[in-house]
Amino acid sequence: MRNSRILGIGCCVPERVVTNDDLTEVMETSDEWIQQRTGIRERHYSGDGVGAADLGLIAAQQAMRAAGVEASDIDLIVFATLSPDVDMPASACLLQAKLGVAGVPAFDVRNQCSGFLYGLAIADKFIKTGTCSRVLMVGAEIHSTGIDLTTRGREVAVIFGDGAGAVVLGPAEPGEGILSTHLHAQGRFAEKLWIEAPGTRARPRLSEKMLEADDPPIFPKMEGRYVFRHAVTRFPEVIREALDANGLGVQDLSLLIPHQANLRISQLVASGLELPDDKVFNNIDRYGNTTAASIPLALYEAIQANRVKSGDLVCLAAFGAGFTWASALIRW
Ligand SMILES: CC(C)(COP(=O)(O)OP(=O)(O)OC[C@H]1O[C@@H](n2cnc3c(N)ncnc32)[C@H](O)[C@@H]1OP(=O)(O)O)[C@@H](O)C(=O)NCCC(=O)NCCS
Repeated sequence: MRNSRILGIGCCVPERVVTNDDLTEVMETSDEWIQQRTGIRERHYSGDGVGAADLGLIAAQQAMRAAGVEASDIDLIVFATLSPDVDMPASACLLQAKLGVAGVPAFDVRNQCSGFLYGLAIADKFIKTGTCSRVLMVGAEIHSTGIDLTTRGREVAVIFGDGAGAVVLGPAEPGEGILSTHLHAQGRFAEKLWIEAPGTRARPRLSEKMLEADDPPIFPKMEGRYVFRHAVTRFPEVIREALDANGLGVQDLSLLIPHQANLRISQLVASGLELPDDKVFNNIDRYGNTTAASIPLALYEAIQANRVKSGDLVCLAAFGAGFTWASALIRW
């Protein structure tokens, strides 16, 4: 079976920059606390009326230009997001309409911070089996409309930002492209990081009582330290799994691009693997955690900074709500 490879990549962040100091105007926090605990200096927030598919469209158009393909060449659209434009239909369908194409399959993948890698694994399989030859894979999030921007929600709110990234995948030459993908989940930890409402368990799904509660279930809830401990275990595990599967070792890696959850997580993972700073790419300082968008956003910037070159071995790795975790090993 043939491998797939990334033919083009694009990204988009909204114009509005929200610094840590800006957040101190709406909640009790400080630039020092946020930088020390997370490495984040600023993030981007979208304007009113902008959905995940709107950011995804701009990223997708850039990726298609870079790949030299038209929207009409795309034969599958996969959209990873935990913040879809609407409950239904899929943001992938909304994006398809914005691209002005019809007929080709389009669906969402809702796997939070691992969403991009879950989507990439699916897209890769469609190319490997010969079912598709040009797949558009988008990761996009609008967090700013769904977080509790008060002191009550500060532990979660300061972390997240809006953004989108997209890649076009196509067939690769033997030995290059996506060498393997590795996906995992452990659902018994679902409540450690989740958004409970609106959900189908409640009748009605959304009520005034929920909105007026001391701790409204419409906002993300996270046991931060618990998530942190699992992340620093699962990241190295899944990175080593990808290397082992290909008969390679950490010393063969040219660049690790971890999902941007927290700079301290990335640093602990890198030091545990004995990877020097120049073999790990981080940009969380400027975007925060953009969930399904964080890996393509980081990969885009790594390529722009000439940190990814032909022949390089690049590992993408993620961990997030679910819990879910994943990796992809790419020969560039
Ligand atoms: C959330 C996280 C940054 C918190 O860092 P931490 O070092 O664990 O902080 P703690 O939980 O020990 O909180 C320390 C104190 O800071 C306070 N605090 C929390 N958020 C704050 C904020 N934004 N500003 C100021 N103080 C804050 C807490 O209330 C706590 O106060 P207390 O000691 O009086 O109770 C960290 O746990 C983390 O990054 N976890 C993983 C999150 C993640 O990656 N999520 C996405 C999944 S991929």
